[in-house]
Amino acid sequence: MKTFDIALIGGDGTGPEVLNEGVKVLDAVNAKYGLKMNYTRYDFGGERYMRTGETLPDSAIEELRHCSAVYLGAIGHPDVKPGILETGILLKLRFALDQYINLRPVKLYPNVATPLRDKGPEQIDFVVVRENTGGIYTGIGGAAMVDTPNEIATQVMVYSRPVVERCVRYAYEYARKRNRKKLLTLVHKSNVLTYAGDLWVRTHREVGDADYPDIKQDYNHVDACTMWMVKSPEYYDVIVTENLFGDIITDLGAMIQGGMGIAAGGNINPAGVSMFEPIGGSAPKYTGKNLINPLAAICAGGMLLETLGENAAANAVDAAVHDVLASGKITSLSAGRMGMGTTEIGDLVASLVA
Ligand code: IPM
Ligand code: MN
Repeated sequence: MKTFDIALIGGDGTGPEVLNEGVKVLDAVNAKYGLKMNYTRYDFGGERYMRTGETLPDSAIEELRHCSAVYLGAIGHPDVKPGILETGILLKLRFALDQYINLRPVKLYPNVATPLRDKGPEQIDFVVVRENTGGIYTGIGGAAMVDTPNEIATQVMVYSRPVVERCVRYAYEYARKRNRKKLLTLVHKSNVLTYAGDLWVRTHREVGDADYPDIKQDYNHVDACTMWMVKSPEYYDVIVTENLFGDIITDLGAMIQGGMGIAAGGNINPAGVSMFEPIGGSAPKYTGKNLINPLAAICAGGMLLETLGENAAANAVDAAVHDVLASGKITSLSAGRMGMGTTEIGDLVASLVA
């Protein structure tokens, strides 16, 4: 039997609850497709940090390097100063495991309310390939005259050709494998960011011209992209963009596909250990109430299977989510208004993949 070692990091707030439902669905789909997953649970998060002062020990990173994938709930605790857990756990993992792609599908399932009322599942189905370890997130910058009236600060958008190129190549490959419109739209702000933007524009064009003649190339400024995502989302197939722009447009993407209850993402190292998570936060006020929507975590589990090369099992998870929503049994994707509880939704999806 094919066996995978999966690290589970429930994290904070509702993270552990939604992850439990994701594991429930994985177990159901694995039983059907002859796969086995051995899980190791880690308790990194705000509670552990407040107890021990530790965010993510280096010894844990060494263990995670040897697993097949990491499945994550959510990181973020109301009693911990913002930034400590985000940089100490989430960004540390993305960097240490060199998960240089953040893959975020934007897909409207049936019966899901989107503010774009006249658009349906046919019109909202694209994928954002967000560069995940570079740019402003590199952390280069400085401050001077702090706490004086003239304080200054900088934070630099750092990119090298290799870092841009490996991301752009991943996106071209993804557009080819996806096999839909075969359109790769680069999103940047090259009219203002003349150096960093130009590096992306030339890399996108040169790599495409040389190795991907079958994929159409296109470019949007990031501000225009937010407009088109709402006005004509059907235009997009695969978007590739730098880290901060990707962070921002994928929150917009999550909204047009129905909200954080359904938005999943993968932090991908194509040659190493990848990590999958619902995009939403830890929703502290819903913790432990069986009210949070586990569908985003379940969809992240589907992405985990796809990245492990288990396409049949991944498609089964996606089809089960589709069918659960098409049945109309879930009244809303928002926490507390779903018409059923967290565990009931997990049971329902699990029963459909089995
Ligand atoms: C995300 C989050 C993170 C990011 C934060 C929590 C550091 O917003 O996964 O999109 O900015 O990448
Ligand atoms: Mn974000």
